[in-house]
Amino acid sequence: MAGTRGPGVTRADQAREAAVETALGTLDLDAKARLLGGRDMWSLHALPEIGLKSLVMSDGPIGVRGTRWTADDPSIALPSPTALAATWDPELARGAGALLAQEARRKGVHVLLAPTVNLHRSPLGGRHFEAYSEDPYLTGVIGTGYVQGVQSGGVGTTVKHFVANDAETDRFTVDNLISRRALRELYLAPFEAIVTNAHPWGIMTAYNQVNGSTMTEHRYLVNEVLRGEWGFDGCNVSDWMAARSTTGAIDGGLDVAMPGPRTVYGDALAEAVRAGRVKESTVDDAVRNVLLLAARVGALEGAEPVVTDLPAEIDGEALAREIARRAFVLVRNENGALPLARTASVALIGAAARDARVLGGGSATVFPARVVSPLDGLTAALGSDAVTYAVGADPSDELAPADKGFELHAICRDADGNVLGEGSLPTGQVQWIGDDLPDGVTHETMASIEVVGTFTPRESGEHSFGTRGLGAFKLSVAGEVVFDGAQLTDSETDPFEAFFGSPVERAKVNLSAGETVEVSLHHHLDKGYAPPLPGVVFSFVHLGPRRDPDELIAEAAEAARGADAAVVVVATTERVESEGFDRQDLRLPGRQDDLVRAVAAANPRTVVVVNSGSPVELLWRDEVAAVLLGWFPGQEGGAALADVLTGAQEPGGRLPTTWGTYADAPVTRVTPIDGELPYSEGVFIGYRAWDRDLEEHAAATPSYAFGHGLGYTDWTYESLTVEGTTATVRVRNSGRRAGREVVQVYLAPAAHDSDRPVRRLAGFAGVEAAPGESVEVRVDIPRRAFEIWDEAADSWAYQGGSYEVQAGRSIADRRLSELIVV
Ligand code: BGC
Repeated sequence: MAGTRGPGVTRADQAREAAVETALGTLDLDAKARLLGGRDMWSLHALPEIGLKSLVMSDGPIGVRGTRWTADDPSIALPSPTALAATWDPELARGAGALLAQEARRKGVHVLLAPTVNLHRSPLGGRHFEAYSEDPYLTGVIGTGYVQGVQSGGVGTTVKHFVANDAETDRFTVDNLISRRALRELYLAPFEAIVTNAHPWGIMTAYNQVNGSTMTEHRYLVNEVLRGEWGFDGCNVSDWMAARSTTGAIDGGLDVAMPGPRTVYGDALAEAVRAGRVKESTVDDAVRNVLLLAARVGALEGAEPVVTDLPAEIDGEALAREIARRAFVLVRNENGALPLARTASVALIGAAARDARVLGGGSATVFPARVVSPLDGLTAALGSDAVTYAVGADPSDELAPADKGFELHAICRDADGNVLGEGSLPTGQVQWIGDDLPDGVTHETMASIEVVGTFTPRESGEHSFGTRGLGAFKLSVAGEVVFDGAQLTDSETDPFEAFFGSPVERAKVNLSAGETVEVSLHHHLDKGYAPPLPGVVFSFVHLGPRRDPDELIAEAAEAARGADAAVVVVATTERVESEGFDRQDLRLPGRQDDLVRAVAAANPRTVVVVNSGSPVELLWRDEVAAVLLGWFPGQEGGAALADVLTGAQEPGGRLPTTWGTYADAPVTRVTPIDGELPYSEGVFIGYRAWDRDLEEHAAATPSYAFGHGLGYTDWTYESLTVEGTTATVRVRNSGRRAGREVVQVYLAPAAHDSDRPVRRLAGFAGVEAAPGESVEVRVDIPRRAFEIWDEAADSWAYQGGSYEVQAGRSIADRRLSELIVV
């Protein structure tokens, strides 16, 4: 309880602590142990005897899904965390957080399972899109804004995944071997900054091990570092199914084991106390942390919540659009290719231009009420006569949950075929975990589920239909049974992967565009199979007619030839970039590279928009006029894209992570050997590695450097002065329109030291200026920028001496520098 007892403790804090103590005093061991294990997938037990409501948690981080995996209660979907970081704007992150708190309150959620502040150690990391940056300082600043925003709305956060869940391969078991120096200077640093500056009410401990101990049992990192050194006074929740041992977890500082009802706490914990294996006072400490969290969010009667005065209502759609355009990174713009002339005719090309990939997959999935695709956005901005569309290339040749053109719902029946209830389905994916079931249905009574409805194809030709998941399936299309069989259980290390399975094609059916047919997928539950979570997960999957790829490319090139400009949207897919696995390479899937080259050859004014959450190789980047990195841009992405392409707004983003090729990427090892993954690169990840390699052996330069990003105006860096550790930078908008610049300050030790990065981001500030206007910004360089972690002394060590303070537009475009001695 260090944090609230320190300086700055308010009367309200004391009152909450008193309420917590009173409540704790009346609970018996069984109630306390029960409180620490999840009640179900998303909530904790209520304890009416002490006026405690059931605490409800939900993912996170780009929206608030709530407790159901359906679109019945849609959520605002903001751009991916990589996009939020690309704004380099903690105020915008704070705004995002405040909006999410509003969403959480609307959905009865007390705690948001976010933000993800693991680092972009390797571009292969599957959940790269869900984390902010390769730089711990930028991650900490954005994460601080986000947490402050969420908590300003009276909703808790769990900063995750503590610590070093930087890749997905074998995430449940991998032992990440990390030097104490790299841990402190890189991986722990964002958590430390957020705990210190934003006082999060929760933290989530990761699946993985660090240096031999799994994170849900890591006494040193949780009890000594997080709580002891940093004064974290919140609640520590396990990642879902991460806790494996009752005594290990409770002694290792884990407060809550999620999800329930199968958990290592509850009865097992009470029994461990009775058997003398766990001290009751240890359980009490954990219960205190849960009750304090409840008190803070207003779920404990008699305790005043931290926020009693809620912020003003936020327009979620408008904010989603603003973040998206402020996040787009224009990395190349030759001969003023962008913005497009308002009168221009545009050939819009790419599967993702029509079916935008607006968010990353896995636990971060939410269901927005609407999605504005690039095609919708550009058509609205330019008029339908000005825009022609061609698919060009489909990045996916795999079946995916039935979506566009399908109208589906689910019918649940008992063993005798009686209908128990019906549920809505946003797509062909059924994902009912725990009690998230249609009304009237229980796991005990349900024997089969039928996904049923209609399909109106957009294209004529041979459509593929299939299944994903385990058990018996019967598939009918247009009144004919096209498959009747079973998919058997297979075993995988990641229980979720086995649970979710891969799509399997079952039949091909010729259909005509615009002609509606009936479809149905019957699924009989295998009562003998015990899934990793109580729930039902399977999908009705589909793929449109496979066209000849060369023909598609030729069509797109033809469309490009006939237009003033071509805009090609290239994308990753859910199968190459998502949760639960890492990427194998950084290539764009399918024939998209060939497509871009063919279009660029047909039209010199070719703009490529990259729709991915993390770096991909842009092999043709010097052959096209402009490249705009669009991330997973959230539900309003297409509208924001139109704002930026037409010049109504400038793209505001700067790269939060270096983009380069796979061959040149400094860290590509994400697969453990014999369960171990050594972080042998030490502190040299991201730009720290690119910079060193460049300095030491003129190695390859990245495609686009950390911090890089163009707007629609120009900036001159006029002066830099440093007083003490405050840098003052004067910049002038030397272009012809108003704009925003992110002034970046880097700190470089003057003397070469091969153990230390050549330079590091030490601070930054956003400025806005009218054409011709000059403005001054002050950037305070934090003490930590001058420190290294001294492993021998096991403490931070200030490194006095000479440093260059460098100011510029990116790490590779440094305009001014000044030598200081500290
Ligand atoms: C993810 C977490 C997420 C949790 C609940 C886990 O698999 O790693 O980030 O919060 O599921 O959905």
